[in-house]
Amino acid sequence: MVRDNRVRERLRNESAFELITTAEEAAALIDNGMVIGVSGFTPSGYPKAVPLALAERVKRGEKIKVDIYSGASVGPEIDTALTEVGAIRKRLPYLTNATIRKAINNGEVEYDDMHLSHSTQYVNYGVLPKVDIALVEALAITEDGNIIPTTAVGNTPSFVKQADKVIVELNLHQPIGLEGMHDCLVMDNPPDRKPINITKPSDLIGKPYIECGMNKIAAIVITDLQDKTRPLTALDDTSRAIAANIIRFLEGEVEAGRLTDTLLPIQSGVGSVANAVLYGLLDSEFHDLTCYTEVVQDSMLELIKSGKVTCASTTAVSPSPEMKEKFDSEIDLYKGKLIFRPEEISNNPEVARRLGVIAMNTALEVDIYGNVNSTHVMGSGMMNGIGGSGDFARNGAITIFSTASLAKNGDISSIVPMVSHVDHTEHDVMVIVTEQGYADLRGCSPKERAVKIINNCAHPDYRDKLMDYFNRACRSGAQHTPHILEEALSWHIKYQKTGTMK
Ligand code: COA
Repeated sequence: MVRDNRVRERLRNESAFELITTAEEAAALIDNGMVIGVSGFTPSGYPKAVPLALAERVKRGEKIKVDIYSGASVGPEIDTALTEVGAIRKRLPYLTNATIRKAINNGEVEYDDMHLSHSTQYVNYGVLPKVDIALVEALAITEDGNIIPTTAVGNTPSFVKQADKVIVELNLHQPIGLEGMHDCLVMDNPPDRKPINITKPSDLIGKPYIECGMNKIAAIVITDLQDKTRPLTALDDTSRAIAANIIRFLEGEVEAGRLTDTLLPIQSGVGSVANAVLYGLLDSEFHDLTCYTEVVQDSMLELIKSGKVTCASTTAVSPSPEMKEKFDSEIDLYKGKLIFRPEEISNNPEVARRLGVIAMNTALEVDIYGNVNSTHVMGSGMMNGIGGSGDFARNGAITIFSTASLAKNGDISSIVPMVSHVDHTEHDVMVIVTEQGYADLRGCSPKERAVKIINNCAHPDYRDKLMDYFNRACRSGAQHTPHILEEALSWHIKYQKTGTMK
């Protein structure tokens, strides 16, 4: 395999061949206490063979605990395999893996849940302990020893820049047609930072590879492994109704003359609701759409294929396993229409504000005044993390949060008197959408917001109870954002004690 044509096509520097080694030998470069910066974003484009080999070392009795920084969520080869052997001390900045989630909530792994745009600059500013080794999946290594990434750029450019050594997993499974779709750079730190010259999602400002150099590359492992991307749950009536309500809201914006039928660049979060919303756009009257986002899922790929979306800028593509096969075989369809950038750029507040993105993300719960909790179950348990939602929510032209009005078979109302944790404050949140309807909160006082959210978004099973709380709060204490503090979190306490908020 080492010198077969597929490898020759991808290793374009002769000295690279001398660095080819096994995953076990590459994993031996990792010492206890190191900080490892891994490629990957939303289980896509992450290294697989070396983390598994590292886990094997621990299973054989070696004492290794490392800090793992990534772009966002990565696959089970990292978050499951290394958590199960107790090899992760600290993890950041985002994850979706159930094993590590449990370890975090049990207090076994430290987790810094941060805005993704902050994660890059914490590395670049030297705020975080330095990355010792960058462990990256690559499509190819250029003649000059630069790295062409695969389906995610994430934080890899900054990890490679900061690390002393780079371990490359050259993944032959990833289609070579991805070449030319990346736009990479690392921003200078302030005070030398220049404006980011993106005025439309299709603008290119970087290079089609990550700068590295052969002298940094310590080992190259050849693999042929598929990303373990997450299957999407089938669209159900609730997610379709949420999507229809978002589209109704956007149509209203066009009617009011605030948007045209090409809208503004779309940012859409992850998960089934986000996927359903984008599928909803497929049948809408909107056309020539663009997208400035951090992750592209199946629906966005369909929108590009259909011609509805002319360009999507992202940091990763994370198709379902079925869609990945199609994507690989039809990759030429996406050339010039799909751009992969570092998350420092895809999630940059400066660009999101300039382009005026329509930010559409998901909430776990929302309170009657418009504060959103996207991360903490009952205030304490970590779900996934804030990811990039805050990068876009604070800076979008329109910031929408959606959620089903009920969770856990109706025992939880997603609209509550007071959220048990705040990720997105009332000052950032503009529109709340559930399957019941939408509440446009722009220009409303807190009390006006409460009436809209309760009437338009809460489930009928909880509407009267919420209105009763609000009315009683309006008769006690200060009247700007009325609350009854002894009761504000009583719905959560009741759920914890009895298993229902009813
Ligand atoms: N209280 C407690 N649990 C709740 C809840 C609430 N108010 N609302 C939902 N849940 C539970 C669900 O029951 C489900 O539990 P399960 O895993 O045991 O089945 C789980 O939370 C996930 O809910 P689901 O409705 O399946 O949501 P989702 O897959 O659409 O994900 C988020 C929703 C908020 C968890 C997810 O979008 C997220 O992590 N967002 C933050 C990061 C982000 O926005 N990233 C994108 C930026 S581009």
